[in-house]
Amino acid sequence: MENEHTITANPAPQNNFPPLPKVPYHVGIIMDGNGRWAKQRGMPRTLGHRAGAENLRNIIESTVEFGVKILTIYAFSTENWKRPKTEVKGLMSLLHYYFNRELDELLKNGVRVRHLGKMDGVAPRTKKEILQAVEKTAHNDRLILNVAFNYGGRAEIVQAIQKIVAANIPPEEITEDTVSRFLYTAGQPDPDLIIRTSGEFRTSNFLTWQAAYAEYYITPILWPDFDKQAYYDALRTFSQRKRRFGGLNDEEDIEDDA
Ligand code: IPE
Ligand code: IPE
Ligand code: MG
Repeated sequence: MENEHTITANPAPQNNFPPLPKVPYHVGIIMDGNGRWAKQRGMPRTLGHRAGAENLRNIIESTVEFGVKILTIYAFSTENWKRPKTEVKGLMSLLHYYFNRELDELLKNGVRVRHLGKMDGVAPRTKKEILQAVEKTAHNDRLILNVAFNYGGRAEIVQAIQKIVAANIPPEEITEDTVSRFLYTAGQPDPDLIIRTSGEFRTSNFLTWQAAYAEYYITPILWPDFDKQAYYDALRTFSQRKRRFGGLNDEEDIEDDA
């Protein structure tokens, strides 16, 4: 729901971009289109993923500049294991490469890394790397970067149910808030805006519970080409949306039934 967390009170100046009247507190990005980006250039898909990872640095920087406080990026889904072995391997080593190269930058920028997803099936080296990034950045508070890696929205709900049952919580005490507390995003406000690149109109199992009232923004731009201007355009569109959360929020919409 819209609460004191939803919109930053004093959005940071957005450099050469005109200030936005409101900025989402939590943005989710489905970083899609790396494969098509590579194909268009006659390159292997893995190079598309590499270009996508390169793009992240700028987008993270812009996220801080625009005043967004939580960024959740969809890096690898529980369904992405279905891809050819070589591609899966490439994506795993990309995570390794990314953290090796970017950890200092993340630390410098005050970014706190969190992991959303399962560790089952993740190679020990990758697991170690994720945990290290989470641990080393734990003191940062400028931006929370949730990395959804081996993440599935349904799997997340299933593990929440398992934990609720294991905690012996009586059924009548289980509320929406209880479920939220057992998700990977426990303690964080729900996403306000979900951006999907590459023009697909689907959620692909991303933040299934949390995005119930998120605004969606879909752009045909492929992820490696999604730059600061494109990001700003998404935020500007968001700032013009009227969120109702099932109610009415405009004086003129509310008829006088007196
Ligand atoms: C998104 O790009 C990255 C991951 C899913 C890991 P894709 O690899 O899905 O690119 P397209 O959709 O095939 O173009
Ligand atoms: C969603 O993209 C997952 C990530 C971006 C990590 P996909 O490319 O896997 O989604 P589908 O298969 O087109 O639904
Ligand atoms: Mg895709």
